Amino acid sequence: MKRLFLAAIALLCVAQLSAENYEITTKNTTLLLRASEGRRVEFVYYGPKVNKIDEVFNTSSQIGWNAYPCFGTNCTCEHALAVTHANGDVSLELVTYEVKQYTDPDGGRVWEFLLKDKVFPFYVKQFYKAYDDCDIIKTWTELSHTEKKDVMLNKFASAYIPVKSGDIYLNYLAGGWGAEAQLFEERLLPGRKTIGNHDGARTSFGGNPSFMISLDGPAKENEGNVLGGTLSYTGNYDLSFVKNGNANHLEIVAGINPELSQYYLQPKEVFTTPEFIFTYSTEGKGGISRNLHRWARNYHIIGGKEPRDILLNSWEGVYFRVNQEGMNQMMQGFAEIGGELFVMDDGWFGDKYPRDNGESSLGDWVVCEKKLPEGIGALIDEAERNNLKFGIWIEPEMTNTKSELYEKHPDWVLRQPDREPSKGRGGTQLVLDMCNPKVQDHVFNVVDNLMQENPRIYYMKWDANMSISNASSLYLPKDRQSHLYIEYHRGLMDVCKRIREKYPKLVIQLCASGGGRLNYGYFPYFNECWSSDNTDAVQRLYIQHGMSHFYPANIMAAHVSASPNHQTGRVVPIKFRFDVAMTGRLGMEMKPSALSAKEKEFAKRAIETYKSIRPVIQQGDLYRLVSPYEKKPYVSLMYNTPEKDRAVFFLFRRHYINDEWEEPRKMAGLDPERNYLIREINAENPEKKLAIEGKVVSGRFLMENGIRLSLGKDLSSVVLELIAQ
Ligand code: DGJ
Repeated sequence: MKRLFLAAIALLCVAQLSAENYEITTKNTTLLLRASEGRRVEFVYYGPKVNKIDEVFNTSSQIGWNAYPCFGTNCTCEHALAVTHANGDVSLELVTYEVKQYTDPDGGRVWEFLLKDKVFPFYVKQFYKAYDDCDIIKTWTELSHTEKKDVMLNKFASAYIPVKSGDIYLNYLAGGWGAEAQLFEERLLPGRKTIGNHDGARTSFGGNPSFMISLDGPAKENEGNVLGGTLSYTGNYDLSFVKNGNANHLEIVAGINPELSQYYLQPKEVFTTPEFIFTYSTEGKGGISRNLHRWARNYHIIGGKEPRDILLNSWEGVYFRVNQEGMNQMMQGFAEIGGELFVMDDGWFGDKYPRDNGESSLGDWVVCEKKLPEGIGALIDEAERNNLKFGIWIEPEMTNTKSELYEKHPDWVLRQPDREPSKGRGGTQLVLDMCNPKVQDHVFNVVDNLMQENPRIYYMKWDANMSISNASSLYLPKDRQSHLYIEYHRGLMDVCKRIREKYPKLVIQLCASGGGRLNYGYFPYFNECWSSDNTDAVQRLYIQHGMSHFYPANIMAAHVSASPNHQTGRVVPIKFRFDVAMTGRLGMEMKPSALSAKEKEFAKRAIETYKSIRPVIQQGDLYRLVSPYEKKPYVSLMYNTPEKDRAVFFLFRRHYINDEWEEPRKMAGLDPERNYLIREINAENPEKKLAIEGKVVSGRFLMENGIRLSLGKDLSSVVLELIAQ
């Protein structure tokens, strides 16, 4: 009876529904837009899922904002689009002429709003694509026109999101070399806050195009209303948060940074803005992270569902001192402790100019015969003898003035025709001009030649160690220099697409002096990211914590390096170093021969342990429990399978205080109705485990009361595995 009644209400509501409402829904959220022919598209509501009987459907627009506001006509709010028409007019007034809906075979449902200016033949297609299972919506636009001459795009954002009311706190990442992804939180007061970048190449140093907005005061981990967003764009970006002084609302505009990037749009050319990905959660920051992680693994990152190998990278072990014997020794040492993949970093190439330091050879991607007389093939043979896969380092977008490439093609670099170019690393590094199709072919060939000659290469580390410091292209016409930042990244992405079409299975790591390119724009082509050149485990607690807000563990390259650490000089026990690295994609960054016998024995066990928990870490749901930014001696986090039948819990003690003062360790994300067997894993001494070993505790107790864990020393840590009974 009750069922029938409910069905009747639903029918009634469908009948009452205005045809102008467009409900873009996911499992737990609704984005409600309103549009009708000849009128603008309105942004009505975005938040937790609403019912058709809820007032947002029946009243006039709750917020009444234009979903893609344009400069020049009745738009005193922020605008997403501003153009100068061929005749000098600077206004736009977009109205709807059609709305399309369809399912994308790659996953997700798409809504396409087709808009046209009331006066000029200027068109905008506004896309929204919803992914049900992870509560993600992405939006982007296509801009075009049939005016008689070029139209200048002055501002061309991907998204405009109005947010109503709240005590709004912004969470975002900023930092630089060796201190990437530091997390900041600030209350948004009236005025403008911008997260922006004009580095040109390494656009995640300084900031990151990702944010979370807590609507109910300072953000909490597992509760509270939070909206999160990230711009999937490898070039310069601008995310503005504008709080109007008169009203309690916030406008978010996200897109390519238009500064010094005015774009001349030709008649019939289509300009596609980058995708802006957003999500909403009532489960705090943690909910936003889990949604983004799931979406990224399922739909965005190339090979995002495949397990990532445990690798040893040669950089901190030998730096530029690469040779056959040294590589062989590292491979043999790594194989002995159970490693899976060996990566030879910088220093292997350069014939006329051997790459002995950062001053030469970029561009000359031939093996340095003095260092490696038997070539790459012999290294791969040795890797295979040791049951390891083989990877190699490249920095293909760059050159040094001391290189054969530069001698042959001095016009391939970004530079002003009449100025001495400013140089980067080693006083000689320059960025190649990715706008130039010949340079694009060269960069493609760096990968293609290596793969043709050595088809057994399994992995590449693609580095980029310079910003665009000479903002001028010798290839682009003089009156199109403002296209440089955009064309550079179009060229780069075109090359990445070509590489992926030919080598879909090659695993490629994204690196830019560490985490300088951490950005979703890259991940359809790159499988993972080198998080930072700072490998100090204590510092990594901060860097990886920041990254984890937006990016999943399977892309987070985390390597165990030597102690004392090369960046900070800190002495950190091997267990702590491994435990921190095991919260991401585990690897090593040292000579295995530098490990003592006892450490080696531990490393072997740790690698074996990681193999068994890898699916939970790399594909699981992350729950951050104690942040490194809290004034507490501990940091804690855990990963749970989506089925909640298995979890791995980490606790790190940064420094000693009397444990009596410490609260019990509460967990999260477990099934309150199930009991869990607790096992200490990766123990320093497998014969001497914590008192909790083997106990069965209910999920409810673990989450509501928590367990006491006494760790003892500074820089000690514990890892527990929980298995549902
Ligand atoms: C910067 C990277 O972040 C390091 O890991 C290493 O690959 C060096 N470049 C090599 O020059």
